[in-house]
Amino acid sequence: MRALQTEARKQEHLTTVLNNDVSAKGISNGFETYAFEHCALPEIDFDDIDLSVSLFGKILSAPILISSMTGGTSKARKVNQRLAETAQEMGIAMGVGSQRAALENNLLCKTYQVRDVAPNILLFANLGAIQLNYGYGKEEAKRAIEMIEADGLFLHLNPLQEAVQKEGDKNWKGVLDKIEKLVQEIEVPIIVKEVGNGVSSKIILRLKEIGVAAVDIAGSGGTSWSEVEAYRQADPVLKGVAHNFAAWGIPTASALVEAKKEVPNFPIFASGGIRTGIDVAKAIRLGAEICGIAAPVLSSAAHHRSSLSNNIKGVIEELKIATFCTGSKDISSLRVAPLNRNTNLFFEKVI
Ligand SMILES: Cc1cc2nc3c(=O)[nH]c(=O)nc-3n(C[C@H](O)[C@H](O)[C@H](O)COP(=O)(O)O)c2cc1C
Repeated sequence: MRALQTEARKQEHLTTVLNNDVSAKGISNGFETYAFEHCALPEIDFDDIDLSVSLFGKILSAPILISSMTGGTSKARKVNQRLAETAQEMGIAMGVGSQRAALENNLLCKTYQVRDVAPNILLFANLGAIQLNYGYGKEEAKRAIEMIEADGLFLHLNPLQEAVQKEGDKNWKGVLDKIEKLVQEIEVPIIVKEVGNGVSSKIILRLKEIGVAAVDIAGSGGTSWSEVEAYRQADPVLKGVAHNFAAWGIPTASALVEAKKEVPNFPIFASGGIRTGIDVAKAIRLGAEICGIAAPVLSSAAHHRSSLSNNIKGVIEELKIATFCTGSKDISSLRVAPLNRNTNLFFEKVI
């Protein structure tokens, strides 16, 4: 029964995201407040630009991740296969969606398995951290990792989504201690991520202290999970409540800047509203290791494999042009390229 509910919810999430405007409202990713200083004389051959980065022992041809999204249904299987083929072709990383559906029903494992089409990619498994409070632990995490031959495990934090969901898991007491225990028990790197409301530097510091390998801030300005749940909600009161959180969270750029200031030398992934290669370039300049994109690639994956490839090719081309037009020859040079900020539009800490 529980397995069927999980599977049905996964299907509803896919169709809701594909058929409605579930983006955050009244808040942006914050990258528009930044502009690179244009370099009119790059003194670089465009064709020599190298966007490659190394992460967890693998080389990516560009610092891009297809963020964790799906699995658990036959449609999701097709989407995961297309995402993985594209990640393999482009040399970028990928995460599958929460594997709870397959842990509850073995028959669904194949909807997440992509190593046959993507043998070399940096691939991440995914589980909700809240499940550690509802019976999950080392055994489930290991099964999720082995199921897809993953290089790392994303544990997602989604308190807002759970709070506005009728059937949501709302007891978050003690989750940090359970993450700490899991970090000690699991051999692959554990990366904690949000799902579109951001992670503050205070929490990143605590996650670093317990041995988490990296944090994906998944900030506000892109997909809003309170919006997704609002569309799924039948109760008119709860629907209104969920919609009212459309502007909630920490914009991705703000979360990234705070994280790099307060927790330096700790790997941060940037995602949440990353829509162009120019956003990627700015996030890299602000200190992100790699950048994740979710919803926009889902819609193109649902259409056709070629529209998905074109979408990602476009993002990589924009990143390359932004690198060129800042006079940078590679990602290390882009990390120190001159960047300006318009302070009037930015979220600053209130003292
Ligand atoms: C259809 C869909 C399903 C998602 N499912 C998951 C999930 O299972 N686990 C997870 O960690 N994040 C999940 N996410 C969140 C994304 O990984 C990402 O953090 C968020 O969508 C923000 O990125 P975006 O603005 O580029 O969409 C999902 C996103 C989408 C669009």
